[in-house]
Amino acid sequence: MEATGFSPATLSALIALVRKHTGIAMTERKSVLLERRLRPRVQALNLGSYQAYLDKVEQDRAEIPHFIDLVTTNDTLFFRTPQVWDYVEKEFLPQWWAAHPGQRLKVWSAASSSGEELYSMAMLCEEFAAANAGFGYQIHATDISQQILALARDGQYTGRSVERIQSTHPDWVKKYFRPSANGLRVVDALKKNVELAQHNLLTPLKPGKQFDLVFLRNVLIYFDQEQQQTILQQARLSMTSHAIMIVGESESITGLNTAYQFDRPMIYRME
Ligand SMILES: C[S@@+](CC[C@H](N)C(=O)[O-])C[C@H]1O[C@@H](n2cnc3c(N)ncnc32)[C@H](O)[C@@H]1O
Repeated sequence: MEATGFSPATLSALIALVRKHTGIAMTERKSVLLERRLRPRVQALNLGSYQAYLDKVEQDRAEIPHFIDLVTTNDTLFFRTPQVWDYVEKEFLPQWWAAHPGQRLKVWSAASSSGEELYSMAMLCEEFAAANAGFGYQIHATDISQQILALARDGQYTGRSVERIQSTHPDWVKKYFRPSANGLRVVDALKKNVELAQHNLLTPLKPGKQFDLVFLRNVLIYFDQEQQQTILQQARLSMTSHAIMIVGESESITGLNTAYQFDRPMIYRME
């Protein structure tokens, strides 16, 4: 295959296909990024052109998960945006426990990527449980990408993902990780209250799930305004009346037509 990039028609078809399968709103400016990501797959499948690959995605359902893995961006790290975690540790958990003694906290990491966010939360919950007898929690983690969920299930981390926690909380690294072939692996104790499942945020979550705390961080940025509203409406159906929603540092939902109330930057309450 030649390194000539996409034809305008192929690029438009590709952008439409990304939107169809993920909802993500891409523009022509992502052309170089998309080509870099798709090229190895197109070559591995011995297809002569990007258009041939797009035809395959349209015709072969088995290719769709690979396509989704390739076009999603999964950057994340432990305790990303420290002020959020300070809030969860020092305000949310004590306040929630005081208001719901004896209940089990239900958390949703709604675009969990490789798991750093959900295991950060599991660490805070384990620490809180050690200091507050009877506290229990359940973390439901979802992502659209099967490949990234497999990494989250494995729970093995290295490099930038764990650098900050290694310097800020070496005690937690010692307590909650074990050296592994490829870096550090989270201990089973952090996995025991976690369930992972594939889920597209544009669709309703399984009925019956009601969460007290939802992390919807660094994912809204990939969608247009209409889809952001759909995602927020869908998420709301899975939140208790007192729930808190946390978004990413560069995300604000105040301009959108939703029923969430601003509490402080990145933190929203149900109306
Ligand atoms: C940049 S990561 C965010 C990870 C983590 N929440 C954080 O803030 O560090 C964005 C994740 O959103 C997922 N994603 C993209 N589109 C999605 C969709 N329609 N439904 C569910 N997850 C989606 C991607 O697969 C990716 O893992």
